[in-house]
Amino acid sequence: MSKTIGILTAGGDCPGLNAAIRGIAKTAMVEHGMKVIGFNDGFRGMLDETYIEFDEAALSGILTMGGTILGTSRVKPFKKSKDDEYDEISKPEKIIETYNKLGLDCLVCIGGNGTIKTANLFSQQGLNVVALPKTIDNDVWGTDVTFGFDSAVGIATDAIDRLHTTGNSHRRIMVIEVMGHSAGWIALHSGVAAGGDVILVPEIEYDEQVVADYILNRHNKGKQYSIIVVAEGIKTPKKKGAGRYIAKKIMELTGIETRETVLGYIQRGGTPSSYDRVIATQYGHYAADLISRDMYGRLVVMNNNQISDIPLEETAGKLKLIENDNELVKMAQHLGVCFGMNCI
Ligand code: F6P
Repeated sequence: MSKTIGILTAGGDCPGLNAAIRGIAKTAMVEHGMKVIGFNDGFRGMLDETYIEFDEAALSGILTMGGTILGTSRVKPFKKSKDDEYDEISKPEKIIETYNKLGLDCLVCIGGNGTIKTANLFSQQGLNVVALPKTIDNDVWGTDVTFGFDSAVGIATDAIDRLHTTGNSHRRIMVIEVMGHSAGWIALHSGVAAGGDVILVPEIEYDEQVVADYILNRHNKGKQYSIIVVAEGIKTPKKKGAGRYIAKKIMELTGIETRETVLGYIQRGGTPSSYDRVIATQYGHYAADLISRDMYGRLVVMNNNQISDIPLEETAGKLKLIENDNELVKMAQHLGVCFGMNCI
């Protein structure tokens, strides 16, 4: 008997989601003759029973599209919020009911850390679940790369390139805040790619005076402008506004005119890079293949360019952060990039 599978995209969106949906659904339908259902707006679609049944035509033309044709939400099945719109019901029970009612053989959850945690809990409750790692933040434990990251780094790199020219014209310090709450991967990669002079990430402690002295030193050497790349999650007195905070402090300490740019949701929008299209398709294809082999409770991952899978319980609740001995950080330091401590 052919299988029926459900797909949902949950949490913050990112470029490559549609490529992943297409990769799963094409493989599932064409290669394995499965029936494929797509839930609307993440877990909300399972609570409200809103979904579509895919046919091949529905998958045409979506590979290059940003966002997710299914929609997404941050509805959390295992958390009750203060004014929870699903106050009257048990969310996990309702989701399991929908799973059974539609006769699903597997639920494919495409998401970041929160979604993977949820997927693991449903797996422990007896559902067949497979997850795919997506997020621009690249902080899912167990995989070298999540799709969405490469596109976001490209967007941030382009933005920093543009700040170089205007920073140079005005002889200013240009601060750019990029996304990354717990992990500074976007700041690190875009900062290296676009020649940021200072890169501040949540994982590495910084000292404002060290940064200011480093920039004054650059100016004394005749360098007329500087670029500071800041991840939104660095430690600051207030929860939000990392870029603004750093710009104000550095201007005070250096006396040099400083401006900040917050890149925000632009990093999550638009068409995926070719790399993200390729890996999202590979992840999706692999996920459908796992289901065809009755392999459940797994997260699709890629390490050393090799796609494989790991148990959900091994990764759930863990974050992939920049570690002390990160090679890219060390290399950038050798090139003179300042990470906020011991800068020359
Ligand atoms: O997708 C991850 C992320 O971009 C974080 O870096 C960011 O802080 C967060 O999502 C914000 O998303 P939202 O406002 O949609 O909850």
